[in-house]
Amino acid sequence: MTEGTLRRTLPPALDEFLIEGPCRLHGKVAISGAKNAALPALAASLLTGETVTLANVPAVADIRTMGKLLAGMGVSVDRHPDGTVVLCASELSSTEASYDLVRTMRAAILVLGPLLTRFGEAWVSLPGGCAIGVRPVDLHLKAFEAMGARIAVEKGYIHAHISRVGPQAGRLKGATIAFPMPTVTGTENVMLAAVLARGITRIENAAREPEVEDLARLLTSMGASVEGAGSSTITIEGVESLCGTAEAHGIIPDRIEAGTYLAAAALTGGDVTALDARPEHLAAFLNALAETGASVTSTSEGVRVQGAEKPRAHDIVTAPHPGFPTDLQAQFMALSTQAEGTSRIVETIFENRYLHAIELARLGADITIDGATAIVRGPRRLEGAPVTASDLRASAALVLAGLRAEGETRVRRIYHLDRGYSGMAEKLNGLGARVKRVAG
Ligand code: EPZ
Repeated sequence: MTEGTLRRTLPPALDEFLIEGPCRLHGKVAISGAKNAALPALAASLLTGETVTLANVPAVADIRTMGKLLAGMGVSVDRHPDGTVVLCASELSSTEASYDLVRTMRAAILVLGPLLTRFGEAWVSLPGGCAIGVRPVDLHLKAFEAMGARIAVEKGYIHAHISRVGPQAGRLKGATIAFPMPTVTGTENVMLAAVLARGITRIENAAREPEVEDLARLLTSMGASVEGAGSSTITIEGVESLCGTAEAHGIIPDRIEAGTYLAAAALTGGDVTALDARPEHLAAFLNALAETGASVTSTSEGVRVQGAEKPRAHDIVTAPHPGFPTDLQAQFMALSTQAEGTSRIVETIFENRYLHAIELARLGADITIDGATAIVRGPRRLEGAPVTASDLRASAALVLAGLRAEGETRVRRIYHLDRGYSGMAEKLNGLGARVKRVAG
C-alpha cells in the first residue's frame, strides 16, 4: 500500500493540530451544551416509553458514542442539525452495554441505573481505567445493592438484576446512600435509579456539580420527585412511572469548555467573552484567574476575561464542586507556565492527572511533579514542538500552550479533544488563532 493510500485510509483518530504561535485571542466564542450534562440526560430517556427531547446537545464524540449505545439497545435516537436530540425507549431489544462502547467511554455506566430500575436487569461492561486513573465504579454498585439489586461481575460484565420474587417483586427499594466521597456519575446513577424505586432514597455527600442539578431539572420535568440537587443531600421519592418531556429540555452551557477558552484568553494576554457561560458555574476557577491578575467580568452575553500582561503565580487545589474543577487543572497549569513566580497545583480527585506536564515541558515549561503536587516555575518562554495528547483535558492544555509558544506546535492524537470539544480549531481561529487540523 503506497504512502498516499495509507494516508487516505488512516482513521481520523490520527488527526493532528498544527498551531502557529504566539497569538493573542480576542473576540466572542459560542459555548456548546455541556457534555457532562447531556450524557446523563441521554441515559434518562431509558426511564420512560414516551418521547424525550433534549436541546443544545453538543456535537462531540462522547455524545455520538452514547447515542450508538442507546440505539444498540433499541432506543430511537434522532439528532437534528440544531443540536436537538429526540429519543424514545418504548421498546428495548437489549439491556446490554457492550465492552466495545463502554471501553471508549466510561460514562456509559450511566445506563445501569435506568435499565435496572425500569427493566429489572442490566448487563454493562466494566469500564476500563483510563489515562487519568483507575476510576472504579464500586460506589455505584454498592448503592444499587443497598437498593436491593443483585450485582455479579461475570466475564468483564456487571450483571445487575432484581429478584422477581419476594417483597421486592422486581422493583428497587428506596435507601439512604452515604457516599464516602462525592462522585458525579455515582450521584447521577443513583438518581436515575431512585426515581422509579419504591419509597424514598436519600443521597448523602452527593456531588453538587451543575450537571447534577441539570439532571434533576430534567427528571422533574418527566414527573419525578427530586429535592436538594446542587446540595450535599438529595432526596428522591420514587413514582410508578415517568412521562416524556412536554417541551425540549435545554442542556446547560459547558462550563469546562468555557473555562478552557477563558484560560486561553489569560494565557495569551487576550480578551475573550465566552457567550452564555454562567459565572456561578465557574466561581472557583474565575477567582483563580483573577488572582493571576486577569480581569474577569460577567456581562449580559456571558463571561469576559482580559489576560494580564504579566500573570502572577497562584496556588490551586482541585476539589469537588464548588471547589476548583479537576477538569480545568491542566489548562490552569498551562497558564501557570507564564506566571511570574512559583505556582503550586494539588490534584486531589484523580491519581494520575499530570500527563500533560511532561508534554508542556517539551515546549519549555519548568514543572516538577511530587506525588499529587505540581510545582510550576515561571515565566518560561515556550517554543513550538511536537507533543502528544493523553486525555481530554490534557489535550486542551497542550493546545493552549501552543497558542502561546513561538513557532509551530504539532498536537498529536487530537481524537481525545474530539470527545469533549466541538469545533475547537474553528472556535480558536474565530478568536484570531492559527490552528490547522491535518490528517496524521
Ligand atoms: C465525572 O467523572 C466527569 N465525567 C469527569 O469529567 C470529572 O473529571 C469527574 O466527574 C470529577 O469531577 C462525567 O461527568 C461524564 P467521580 P466521574 O465519580 O463521575 C472516585 C471530563 O473531562 N470513585 O466524580 O467518573 C474516582 O476514582 C471527565 O469530562 C471511586 O472511587 O468521577 C475519583 O477519584 C473526566 N469509586 C473520585 O471518586 C466510584 O465508584 C471522583 O470521581 C466512583 C468514583
